[in-house]
Amino acid sequence: MTERVLITGAAGRIGTMLRPRLAREGRTLRLLDREPIGAPSAAEETVLGDVTDLPALIAAADGCDAIVHLGGIAGEDTWDAISAINIQGTYSVFEAARAAGVPRVIFASSNHAVGFVPRTSAPVSPTEFFAPDTYYGVSKVAGEALASLYADRYGIDALCLRIGSCFDEPSNTRMLSTWLSPDDCGRLVEAALTTPDPGFAVVWGISANTRAWFDLGPGRALGFDPQDDAEKYAPDLIARDGDPDLTVLPHSHVGGDFCSPALDAPLPT
Ligand SMILES: NC(=O)c1ccc[n+]([C@@H]2O[C@H](COP(=O)([O-])OP(=O)(O)OC[C@H]3O[C@@H](n4cnc5c(N)ncnc54)[C@H](O)[C@@H]3O)[C@@H](O)[C@H]2O)c1
Repeated sequence: MTERVLITGAAGRIGTMLRPRLAREGRTLRLLDREPIGAPSAAEETVLGDVTDLPALIAAADGCDAIVHLGGIAGEDTWDAISAINIQGTYSVFEAARAAGVPRVIFASSNHAVGFVPRTSAPVSPTEFFAPDTYYGVSKVAGEALASLYADRYGIDALCLRIGSCFDEPSNTRMLSTWLSPDDCGRLVEAALTTPDPGFAVVWGISANTRAWFDLGPGRALGFDPQDDAEKYAPDLIARDGDPDLTVLPHSHVGGDFCSPALDAPLPT
């Protein structure tokens, strides 16, 4: 039997990284985005659609064994935009899973759900209470709450991956702590797809970084075994930017520069 995995936001950075890394014999990836997606392989299907369009999502989820939900705004924006796309979109994804009988949803959460946690709390647990640093962070908190609701009320396996910084390479000294390599991202999502009976779970999505701020224990317990470490980039980044000063932003708090007053929302007019 073919396993079918729906990926929302599949045209984005992480979706593009995941496509080759989640390819498996007997697995079809159904790729959904509101932007055009690159040419599908023989084991891929593409769907042009919006995560806020519930009927379209229910149709896209039909026959799927899991949904990997990446689609939405991947940074700070206005409350109207964040609530309309990230919060309403994540609600629609869980509701589509329920309507279409999809047993598992993997939600791309973020370190910004706990951005105002001081880094002196490291290693930060994935059960650390919420401290969102932005409206974007609030949308990740809301997504984790929806995951908990749909796991407890409807029995959907719902895994929240609090991703640090998923890029090809760390590009600043904060990422020496928060980097998630593309290969480890693939390992993380594969573990989330295959771990048996997780129920509701929240785990950190970072590589095995020497300077990690986050507790990888609960993720390892689900089978996530990260292999990369940002430390090999440390000499070059520190030569360029200096040693991280852990008492000031972007190093003093988990969310880095997202905690800066520069991201204060404008007062309503
Ligand atoms: N990259 C990171 O370091 C990082 C860190 C933490 C969390 N995340 C989360 O992971 C997910 C993917 O991040 P990314 O870096 O690939 O972001 P990205 O911006 O590259 O990709 C997001 C994708 O979502 C699509 N999208 C946006 N609104 C949509 C809508 N209404 N309907 C359908 N598709 C829509 C975009 O077209 C885009 O292809 C996001 O939810 C982001 O918040 C990413």
